Amino acid sequence: MDIKKICIIGAGIMGHGIAQLVATHGYDVNLVDVNDEVLNKAKASIEKSLNRFFVAKNKITAEEAEKILDRISLNVNRDDAVKDVQMGIEAVFEDITLKQQLFSELDAICDKDVILASNTSSLSITDIAIKSKNPDRIVGIHFFNPAPVMRLIELIKGKNTSDEVLKTSKKFSESLNKTVVTVNDAPGFVTTRLIYVLCNEAANMKMEGIASTEDIDIACKLAFNFPMGPLELSDLVGNDIYLHIGEYLEKEFGDKYKPCPILKEMVDKNLLGRKSKKGFYEY
Ligand code: 3HC
Repeated sequence: MDIKKICIIGAGIMGHGIAQLVATHGYDVNLVDVNDEVLNKAKASIEKSLNRFFVAKNKITAEEAEKILDRISLNVNRDDAVKDVQMGIEAVFEDITLKQQLFSELDAICDKDVILASNTSSLSITDIAIKSKNPDRIVGIHFFNPAPVMRLIELIKGKNTSDEVLKTSKKFSESLNKTVVTVNDAPGFVTTRLIYVLCNEAANMKMEGIASTEDIDIACKLAFNFPMGPLELSDLVGNDIYLHIGEYLEKEFGDKYKPCPILKEMVDKNLLGRKSKKGFYEY
């Protein structure tokens, strides 16, 4: 099936980053969220990113940026927004119950050949599909923040994902100029299971007073040639996201994934990172 139009559900950091990415590669997008305020903020962020990282650097023209923005329609009515699409990508909060409900509703209203993808960073695709009648069309397409610039897509095959859906999803992901790795369904897949351990251990070291926030990050960047230190990265992804991932991985795999207590304290104080303007650093 030819994918031309995509519905993205959830206009947060990941959702609007994915919208920008796919619209840049010529797809039409229906971006959905609960109210106009969230949607307008998302579109303003996309416009800012296009201008700052692409037009200002002469990677695209102002006219091309305008066309990309025109391909993105905003919609508060999810059921309308999925009517004429060939793929739905979910980027809502990491809550298994919420996602199971969402996918069973999407499965009930979308045409049978529409692919339904989750951008979950850690939750089992098989579990997400558990309430849906057609779990064969449900797949994990895991993007990385910032979605327009990161080079990888992690494709996750749920227990019931069909080979056809996996093949089309791979082709679609490659059309976004990304390298694709395919992973069998397991909590945290490959990437989140690895990066969570690094970021959580950095938070543990900060809690133990082993080094300052800055020095932990500098050590990691210069010793290993990482583009960002783990605490900076935790702020970028969201400390709430890492806490959630940690709680899930601990439940699935045991104590060695236990989230650092300061993550919980920070989330309680709304120190979520860049999105709340304060986390390990101030923004
Ligand atoms: N959008 C588009 N392009 C961007 C961008 C953005 N938000 N931020 C930076 N760029 C581009 C810049 O324009 C620049 O392009 P150029 O080299 O062609 O001029 C290039 O990226 C490098 O940018 P900078 O020189 O300004 O800054 P950095 O070298 O520090 O790069 C970064 C910024 C790309 C964000 C880099 O720091 C990085 O890769 N950090 C790690 C990010 C990461 O690990 N993300 C994954 C997190 S895990 C995840 O998302 C999964 C989730 O499910 C939890």
